[in-house]
Amino acid sequence: MCEVAGEQVSTQAPADPAIPDADSVLYVRGISKVFPGLRALDAVDLDIRSGEVHGLCGGNGSGKSTLVKILSGVLRADSGKVRIAGRELEAHQIGPKLVRDLGVRVVHQDLALFPDLSVAENMMLGAGLPVSPVRSVQWRELRRRTRLNLDRFEITATPDALVRDLPIGVRSQVAIARALQDVSSGEGVLILDEPTAALPAHEVGLLLDAIRRLAAAGHAILFVSHRLDEVLAVTQRVTVFRDGRVFAEHRTAQLTESELIDSIIGQGQERRADTARSVPLPAAGAQPLLTIRNLSAGPLREVSLEVMPGEIVGVAGLLGSGRTELLRAVYGDLKRTAGMITVAGKAANYSRVDQAIAAGVVMIPEDRAGSGAFGDLTVDENLSLSVLREYWGLVFRRTQLRSDAEELRQRFRVRAASGSVTMKSLSGGNQQKTILARWLRRKPVLLLLDEPTQGVDVGARSDIHAAIRQVTKTGGAALLVLSDFEELAQVVDRAVVLRRGKITAHVPRERLAARHLNQLIYEETDNHA
Ligand SMILES: Nc1ncnc2c1ncn2[C@@H]1O[C@H](COP(=O)(O)OP(=O)(O)OP(=O)(O)O)[C@@H](O)[C@H]1O
Ligand SMILES: [Mg+2]
Repeated sequence: MCEVAGEQVSTQAPADPAIPDADSVLYVRGISKVFPGLRALDAVDLDIRSGEVHGLCGGNGSGKSTLVKILSGVLRADSGKVRIAGRELEAHQIGPKLVRDLGVRVVHQDLALFPDLSVAENMMLGAGLPVSPVRSVQWRELRRRTRLNLDRFEITATPDALVRDLPIGVRSQVAIARALQDVSSGEGVLILDEPTAALPAHEVGLLLDAIRRLAAAGHAILFVSHRLDEVLAVTQRVTVFRDGRVFAEHRTAQLTESELIDSIIGQGQERRADTARSVPLPAAGAQPLLTIRNLSAGPLREVSLEVMPGEIVGVAGLLGSGRTELLRAVYGDLKRTAGMITVAGKAANYSRVDQAIAAGVVMIPEDRAGSGAFGDLTVDENLSLSVLREYWGLVFRRTQLRSDAEELRQRFRVRAASGSVTMKSLSGGNQQKTILARWLRRKPVLLLLDEPTQGVDVGARSDIHAAIRQVTKTGGAALLVLSDFEELAQVVDRAVVLRRGKITAHVPRERLAARHLNQLIYEETDNHA
């Protein structure tokens, strides 16, 4: 069932670990990488066969993206070797151009798109711009090809749109389409690092179908994900990393979700499930914590909603339904054209987000890189940004700041060499946990959370659920946008469904099953304009 790799492949293998002649397109042997103070990869081995979808799972910071970066040539391994499409390369020989020429295509976790360029320009930077014999860029051809590519994946963006104006889910679709655009049949290697983290169910389905087709055409695919249902649905084998080592390799056909979770976070490890919905009944005559009445803003049309203290209310909807805009309008980050909002009985006419923050309203945006993480500041500084003022007395109490930050890092299990490494050196999921910890420490009264668990591993996900519950147990409330309806159904007390800017359904706790939510989202209703 579960073959512990340490037993089959000794890490004290001979200096020149032989690569067998078999049918794999990609062989990884003994790849190691050390960052200052931290061993990210320790003698990792991995094979992917042609026609195979191979899952790569592991906790936040276990080394998955580091391996992806090494295989795409953007990061150099300290030692080890690979063989790609029959060509053997030592660690120092693996470079971006060579790897690409050998047929490797990669979608990185941070997407690596250029926000200030158009969709068409981004597409073609991956493949080389189409140029005429006199070497001027053929814009018409570029737009035409981009259009085709977008249609293929049902992506709702125009070739001329700037990437930074697109919702994050659409951005990941563009990144995927860019990686796949010049993949023909044959024996390429396709590496997808958490491609579905920001995608709603329908878009995930499209992507998984595309992956299956590519595998059927002979490609070898490495699929990195924390969404274990997807891993089980699309892969044939799964490799699990723990702390930079291969912990196990599983055959998917013989693997259950709970075995996979055990493999990732450790059997017998306490799975904190303090997400139980023990909503205290609001006191008789209690006032709603949040009242939204006839709100119009951006795509939103006459939205009305009340949230009581103690409640976590889910917001379900497709990309573009207005989910994010609903949170932004409450937060004062999107201008409202009509309607009113109150928080704890007071008019909430925030025109700037600092007014919202001062009122105890906190929003954690979906776009981590763009608006949450300060990459060049240290982890501890990032953790403390929301409360910096508290550390100013006669002097700046740096020691106190450090010890408070350390406590937070432990509570949210942020994996970092220390608190003084830069934020951008953290793995994706650890950055997400840091941002959450930063805002939750302010003891907010109203939480506005847009995909708060994106990229977060199974263990940390329940820590985050518990932290949200902590806020609502003490009289706060939360509005929670989640694309993963299984998770939504598990965490929230009730949900609203948004379609084209309107609330089209209220879903009570008893009816929160993911299947029901999915039906509601796609169901045509007649009360939209
Ligand atoms: N440039 C860097 N400098 C220092 N440390 C780094 C750097 N890049 C990654 N690390 C560290 O290496 C470890 C592995 O990171 P990696 O991004 O590979 O994790 P991951 O498995 O992809 O996690 P996640 O699921 O959160 O994306 C982490 O502890 C991370 O902080
Ligand atoms: Mg990663």
